[in-house]
Amino acid sequence: MPWIEVSPVEDLPPGEVKLVHAGQISVGVYNLDGEFYAIEDRCSHDDGPLCEGEFDLEEGYAVCPRHGAHIDIRSGRPLTLPAVLPVETFPTRVENGIVEVDLS
Ligand code: FES
Repeated sequence: MPWIEVSPVEDLPPGEVKLVHAGQISVGVYNLDGEFYAIEDRCSHDDGPLCEGEFDLEEGYAVCPRHGAHIDIRSGRPLTLPAVLPVETFPTRVENGIVEVDLS
């Protein structure tokens, strides 16, 4: 799968997340202090909709809405139980003012 468009940069300001759906994959693309990070919208614990819950902007983790695991948005690694495995991360870039994510 090639790079796919997420959003114009100005529509995804710091502290915001946007969900992207492509085929079987859904990812959350976060703007943390001007840097873009993408993680799969599926918790490694029990497939919860990870990117549809709260997230801590300062600490940079997403809170799974199903059982509350904290997942590092930059690395995909779990910071708290009940998740113990990392979630998938995806490269991001900005091309011509558009945030893109590589889902290949
Ligand atoms: S499904 Fe995310 S913590 Fe259980």
